[in-house]
Amino acid sequence: MPLVNLFGWKGKLVLSTILICAVIFESAYCQKDAQEQRPTPERKPKPSKPKPGKSTTKGPRAATAKIKASPAAQTQTLLTQVLNKGKFKKVGETISVQSGEILELRCRGKPVQWSVPSYLEEEDDGRLSTVQHERYGALTLVNTTGADTGEYTCYPMYCEDTDCRKEYGKAVKVFVFFPDPQELFVPSSDYYEVIQLRTNWPTVLPCQVTSPDAKVTLHREYPPVEVAVDGREISFNVMKGFTIHRPRPYHAGALYCVASLGNLRQSSTKYMLIYVNYPMAPPAPVIQASSPSLAAGENLRVSCSVVGEQDVVVEFTWEYPGQQIGRPLYTQESVNPDGGGAARQQSQSVLLVDEVRDVDQGTYTCTAQNLQGAKSVSTTVKVVPKAKPQKP
Ligand SMILES: *[C@@H]1O[C@H](CO)[C@@H](O)[C@H](O)[C@H]1NC(C)=O
Repeated sequence: MPLVNLFGWKGKLVLSTILICAVIFESAYCQKDAQEQRPTPERKPKPSKPKPGKSTTKGPRAATAKIKASPAAQTQTLLTQVLNKGKFKKVGETISVQSGEILELRCRGKPVQWSVPSYLEEEDDGRLSTVQHERYGALTLVNTTGADTGEYTCYPMYCEDTDCRKEYGKAVKVFVFFPDPQELFVPSSDYYEVIQLRTNWPTVLPCQVTSPDAKVTLHREYPPVEVAVDGREISFNVMKGFTIHRPRPYHAGALYCVASLGNLRQSSTKYMLIYVNYPMAPPAPVIQASSPSLAAGENLRVSCSVVGEQDVVVEFTWEYPGQQIGRPLYTQESVNPDGGGAARQQSQSVLLVDEVRDVDQGTYTCTAQNLQGAKSVSTTVKVVPKAKPQKP
């Protein structure tokens, strides 16, 4: 489809630009800080999290008894982290496990299913194991690294005989950070990532840090400046990265994140942001025939026009009565500024039929399409026999 091609073409153009940039960038800016010093002693977990000392002294039974299931909820779900020496801790929204250590989660339910960061799901290197016990499922991840950072979700299953399905409403998730003294960003296999910026469509730059304590800033490669993050136009979330809430053309370009923690300062993978004029809505075409009724031999002209946002490409396709028998019709397409208002344009397709015949009688349908969708409109045309020549 032409719409797809458009992006392919842009993608290629950008690609060659990047390859050139990449060489320069590598030597000039991309030198990762080679320091191998350990970050400053770990800070305390966020204050919102339950204090480790508070709920960890009880065994699993005591911990789960606390939120005793209401009689209606058969499988009350609870996610706990198993700490050293058999201590348990109910997890909050996030937890941190020093990379290299073991992550062990228990989720109450029988049975339960787990979802883990996609990188772990794809790469089965034996570090991840899940076991179903009588009353809970256990997930264990060993030899952890910063790359394991991400969302871990437990789904209790609802079963009828052997037929089980996930109970999405009861899913419990936790975001696990694996602070890594050498890698502040979750490693990416790509040197750069191409991201489309669509008009008014939130865009995420997924520079994921391995530690919740890392300070992350956003930077533009050229000109080399730090991008202001005001929390409204652009915001940062330690579990997601940066979000550009309402992309505008000036957001486009090469951006990257910088994380610093202690003496360590590192750059993320690069994000090539390409701005795409993305329409707010599907087009609203208007169709009009030069006349609803023509005599055979006259010329017919059917116009289909769309008034929409500037620089938004609209594609037209036609269906018409003579199509099946291969009537050779032709179309003329044009784009003109709309006199009515700023930043609007009129796109038009005109279908021309020279010397109409009986077979041209019927319904003419025009479909207008943009990136948001398509809409069709129709009109009918009647062909009447040629009027008797008036001339003698
Ligand atoms: C974890 O690391 C140790 C030490 O490098 C290694 O012997 C062991 O096989 C690893 N375990 C898994 C499951 O990869």
